[in-house]
Amino acid sequence: MQLPNLKEAKVRTKNKINIVKEGFILDDKYKNLGKNKTYYIKTYGCQMNEHDSENIKAILETMGFTESASFDSADLFLLNTCAIRENAHNKVFGMVGRIKHLKEQRPDIIAGICGCMAQEEAVVEEIMTKYKWLDLVFGTHNINNLPEILYNSIKKQKLEVEVFSCEGEVYENIPVKRDSKYKAWVNIMFGCDKFCTYCIVPYTRGKQRSREPKYILEEVKKLVEDGYKEVTLLGQNVNAYGKDLGISYGMAELLRDVAETGIDRVRFVTSHPWDFNDEMIDIIAKYDNIMPYIHLPLQSGSSRILKLMGRRYTKEEYITLFNKLKSKIKNASITTDIIVAFPGETEEDFNETLEVVEKCKYDSAFTFIFSPRIGTPAAKMEDNLSQEEKNNRLYKLNDLVNKYAKEANLKYQDQVVKVLLEGTSEKDENMLMGYTETMKLVNVKADKKYIGQIKDVKITDVKTWSMDGELID
Ligand code: 5AD
Ligand code: SF4
Repeated sequence: MQLPNLKEAKVRTKNKINIVKEGFILDDKYKNLGKNKTYYIKTYGCQMNEHDSENIKAILETMGFTESASFDSADLFLLNTCAIRENAHNKVFGMVGRIKHLKEQRPDIIAGICGCMAQEEAVVEEIMTKYKWLDLVFGTHNINNLPEILYNSIKKQKLEVEVFSCEGEVYENIPVKRDSKYKAWVNIMFGCDKFCTYCIVPYTRGKQRSREPKYILEEVKKLVEDGYKEVTLLGQNVNAYGKDLGISYGMAELLRDVAETGIDRVRFVTSHPWDFNDEMIDIIAKYDNIMPYIHLPLQSGSSRILKLMGRRYTKEEYITLFNKLKSKIKNASITTDIIVAFPGETEEDFNETLEVVEKCKYDSAFTFIFSPRIGTPAAKMEDNLSQEEKNNRLYKLNDLVNKYAKEANLKYQDQVVKVLLEGTSEKDENMLMGYTETMKLVNVKADKKYIGQIKDVKITDVKTWSMDGELID
């Protein structure tokens, strides 16, 4: 039993990060643990979690498990959770209730919780008092040890908890079962050292640890060989890539080298405005296969609130960077994240956020009401707005964001754009879906034989969140 510890999770030492080259080796004793058994993983939260689930799936398959065709029939359930806001918590425990119901009919079902919520002390305490019937809980630093955790839980027939609250290591050669045959997530770094005052990520994911360039490039080259068309380089703060490695090689160099592999499309998330340098902008502008799409979280348009958030930039500095990106990168699409009702946010502060949105006219924005996370500095700040006022600010902001999202999309009417056709459309199974270079969702009238290809598409109709189009020959 290894429980999470918030105090330990905060610690940052100068110790060198340990790279575990053979990050996953399966002991013979676990080889048949999943024989004739199926698993079902439900993933919440960001792309990091999506990619972790791809690793978890592959690890389970080394033990003989296969993916279940449906929720009801699985033998093993894992919920890979997100801790970023309170509502994610409620969704997870709703799902736990559904699994309990199944377990009452089939007591041999195994059920576990992993991911960022497993890193939270309060959550694990709650599980140990109210949900003792669960079989396993493991943290974001413990994925590679899943076979042993599972084995112990089955052997002891009781809840097994393994959550390290350490700075973390870098594991190479973890198996992966990718969800797509055309687009792939590639981790370039783990953790975050920015400690924005509202954010739980530096506690749940540990210290910033960049992967060495050679491992990243090997992975991308292999993906190219396997026919992948797109890679998305993943990190909480990708612009700071390499700063912890002590080498003069950063995100600009990495982007250049990944682009040079010849892969059709390179994307990257998420950027922090603080570390966005001119070299990076020039590289993005120079290479046609680096997509002109940048997610640049604003969080607030008030310099006073940005300071309280610990964001390290002012409203003016953000706008300068934004304008530079727009002027240097042809046809750039820029999206953002905004938090409303941060503790102490006045009407004036909020209006400044609206003003920045009016200036930047984002292609799209993810908007959130501040959610206090236990252990973060902002959770202790005084919050005196009513829920009604918080909701009103969010609605007002969303109205503005939607207006500019639609405006940005309208520019595409009758244009011809390149779309990577990924699969059938959710809204109509006779159509395909895919994304433009600028990350716009397009539903396309096209034969299924084009799935996996990048095609020229003429936009025939434009909505706020998607577009329709048809293939041009
Ligand atoms: N409350 C509300 N939103 C948050 N985010 C991160 N932490 C919080 C929080 N405590 C938002 C930020 C971040 C996005 C991933 O989630 O906008 O960029
Ligand atoms: Fe959280 Fe800030 Fe790190 Fe992003 S940069 S993960 S918001 S602490």
